[in-house]
Amino acid sequence: MHKIIIDTDPGIDDSMAIQFAFASGAFEILGLTTVFGNVSIDITTTNALRLLDLLDRSEVPVSKGAANPLEGVFGGGVPFIHGDDGQGNTNKPPSKNKAISLPAHEFIIEQVMKFPNELVLVALGPLTNLALALRQKPEIQHKVKEVVLMGGNPFCPGNATPAAEANILSDPLAADEVLGAEWPVTMIGLDVTHRTLLRRSDFDEITQNPSPINKHVTSAYLFYLDFFKRANKIEGTYLHDASVFAYLMRPDYYTTENYPVRVATHEGVGRGKTWPSVGDTDQEEREALKPWKGRPKINICVDVEGEKVIELL
Ligand code: BDR
Ligand code: CA
Repeated sequence: MHKIIIDTDPGIDDSMAIQFAFASGAFEILGLTTVFGNVSIDITTTNALRLLDLLDRSEVPVSKGAANPLEGVFGGGVPFIHGDDGQGNTNKPPSKNKAISLPAHEFIIEQVMKFPNELVLVALGPLTNLALALRQKPEIQHKVKEVVLMGGNPFCPGNATPAAEANILSDPLAADEVLGAEWPVTMIGLDVTHRTLLRRSDFDEITQNPSPINKHVTSAYLFYLDFFKRANKIEGTYLHDASVFAYLMRPDYYTTENYPVRVATHEGVGRGKTWPSVGDTDQEEREALKPWKGRPKINICVDVEGEKVIELL
């Protein structure tokens, strides 16, 4: 069983992913850490606490994380995708529970040091908390079992802009630091999440059970479905955040390749693009490859058996 921390910005697909993680029984979930992203940090934290209530798992700690990227300020999120409340405008009353006093990056450090080489950090939002943890205690990069993240688009167009995927674009500098650290990283980006289509009919089948969490996620998901219909002209959604748990449960459904990755952190049209270097980046004579030299190889998911992932879900 994987020991994990889920770093998240719920978010409708984050909520469904978290539900999937708990329901699978495949994970020992040490805590949820929240980050700004789809909506503000206050709202993502409220949503994480409420989700745990609905899952009847409110003993799991929630630790509140970054309100803003490493540089600059939170840009307002994507209420047109996730609703003003990040949960499809379902406007549920807040949980009676509160986040613990330890901030997210410190909770991550504490747990990594407590369980050296055992812990998988699952990241479903901008990578700010992970970067802050790395900056505060660089030695954690040698003590984490694996970082598995939803983000990036190394071999395909972006979704937030033609260049960039949303989680990476929200904090490109944090992403570049996380992808440059010496911990094993698996990247589950749009190359595979856009090949994993959760059709409306699959969703209806999955949500037949009228449990409190299913009722909530179902109504939130209807809002999310509407966005995909308008933006992508599909009757369903791509499976972003839940794909991370699918990968951890069934890595054999995914094809991976290993390359060093840099993130474009400069302002402009390319901001947030994840660039793999598919050649030999250690060639001395290629001056242009310098930004990739000495960077660790990232395990990039490049293909997926999408139907099998949906079946698992
Ligand atoms: C990612 O962006 C967010 O809107 C989703 O929750 C997901 O983590 C997809 O690009
Ligand atoms: Ca997310």
